[in-house]
Amino acid sequence: MSHMKLHPSSLEEGTAGVTRRGILRWGTFFGALLSALGITRMLQAFLSITSTERKSQRFLLGHWDDFQKIDVLEKNGIYLIRDHASLHALRGECTHLGCRVRWDQRQDRFECPCHGSRYDRNGRILAGPTQTPLQSVFLKLNDQGEILADLSRKSPAGFRLQAG
Ligand code: FES
Repeated sequence: MSHMKLHPSSLEEGTAGVTRRGILRWGTFFGALLSALGITRMLQAFLSITSTERKSQRFLLGHWDDFQKIDVLEKNGIYLIRDHASLHALRGECTHLGCRVRWDQRQDRFECPCHGSRYDRNGRILAGPTQTPLQSVFLKLNDQGEILADLSRKSPAGFRLQAG
């Protein structure tokens, strides 16, 4: 008859080993779970940011009729410019280093207070240091006659919005 003797210290080590392994396994499991949750949350945050961003890039400026008497008007950071029966819009950021340009009614031009770039009412460069015209904004009329600006889309060169 053989008696297997377990030394008390080996028993402790064994139990401790199992416990340690168990903890490690659970730790790994929870770690994976947490990181999966973390990734999900990060993904959700990213998606909500991009959808908010997309929404904030598209906005209504007002009804077409509200802009019949304007010459140049700033709204939501963009400039709406009337050209006879049509409208077009330009972004208000200087294309040199991004300062806000100002419309000078007397001079009939946009001026940048930072380094002196100037643009005509169509956004074309009159004076540097900028090398790029003001960026045109994509405009669209919806069925209710409201003007929608979409900063995520490129506006074709010389684009003009007309009613009807
Ligand atoms: Fe406008 Fe430099 S940022 S001229």
